[in-house]
Amino acid sequence: MKLAIVGAQVGDEGKGRVVHHISTQYRYICRTSGSENCGHSVWVEGKKLVYHYLPSIDFRSTNTIGYLGAGMVINPANLLAEIKGFLPLYPNAAKQIIIDPYCFLIDQRHVDEDKAKNQHIGTTNKGVGPAYTEKIGRKGKRIIDLENDSSIEEMKSLGVKFIPSYSMLDSFKNNNVLFEGAQGVLLDVNNGTYPFVTSTDCLPTSLGSSGFASIKVDEVLGVAKPYVTKVGTGPFPTEFFGEEAGVLVAAGNEFGSTTGRKRRVGALDLVALKYAVEVAGITQLCLTKLDVLDGIDRIKVAVAYRNPLKGPQDFFTAEPIYEEIKGWERAKDFGKELTSLISMIQMVVGVPVTAVSYGVSERDIKMQRVFK
Ligand code: IMP
Ligand code: MG
Repeated sequence: MKLAIVGAQVGDEGKGRVVHHISTQYRYICRTSGSENCGHSVWVEGKKLVYHYLPSIDFRSTNTIGYLGAGMVINPANLLAEIKGFLPLYPNAAKQIIIDPYCFLIDQRHVDEDKAKNQHIGTTNKGVGPAYTEKIGRKGKRIIDLENDSSIEEMKSLGVKFIPSYSMLDSFKNNNVLFEGAQGVLLDVNNGTYPFVTSTDCLPTSLGSSGFASIKVDEVLGVAKPYVTKVGTGPFPTEFFGEEAGVLVAAGNEFGSTTGRKRRVGALDLVALKYAVEVAGITQLCLTKLDVLDGIDRIKVAVAYRNPLKGPQDFFTAEPIYEEIKGWERAKDFGKELTSLISMIQMVVGVPVTAVSYGVSERDIKMQRVFK
């Protein structure tokens, strides 16, 4: 089984939690894009873990290996710190990580440039955009170009391996592999709301840049919340303001895992979700954080725009048309209100909802069709 999991909104959909839940069924969990700009939060046995570089592996099992593909850009000191942060809980974690030495590097210059020049986009200030700029400008350095970097040497001494994707291909072909997406379709540099995007491919096409175009994925699982959040600036057609926003920020604890910033929040946007599904080739959807809407009387859903969406530029001027549906008391009861929202989503978007999560605990997630 080869599965790709992608964000079907603007990042922070809960991909990490979903990956973590099924990670032990895969030999490899592979990241093919992004960097430490992402923050994948997972609750394990009452403790919150945040993954930035590392794939969201359930390290309680020592059989799953995380692979960081060459589409990523890496700040070695920060990656080392993240790996070391997992060791007290999971002493074997470093030995479960393989890094492609063809990953490009982030250094302090990139971080400084991000802070100085990219505030209008609201970047995470991790140097991601400037590092990719240098890569595309053919000036950047890769891990393989470094000599005696102390962080890389320390990673090796902890048991981290450095293996190019070409040497991983056979293992990938012969094993179950889960490709863990970063950010979301609307932050994709090619298909998102440019220039308010991240600097990478957030679609399953990022597999190709990491050397895995020959791995055919069986299913693409898109992850979405029953509302939308966004950090950073740029268009947000269904955005809430004032009290309506405050209620949702508090209920969903919508603060960035990487930057701590308060996330902008708004109504579920089915036009944007359908766009994401069609552009990214999503075959199934997972709805997360359903419990955040518990007890809300009426739930607003954008079902169309006044002018049909012809391309991502139209998100800048979109005027949503809303329908209001009756809310539910507790998502975990699976009452008719929730099932009617799911039917509505499936009808408008055109792919089945096969997984749901309705709480942070390990019990509060159900996945049906992902495994064929
Ligand atoms: P950058 O990726 O730091 O360059 O930021 C570019 C834009 O993408 C900003 O609006 C960020 O807030 C947003 N962004 C980057 N990574 C994430 C993420 O993991 N979740 C949500 N938004 C993100
Ligand atoms: Mg996040």
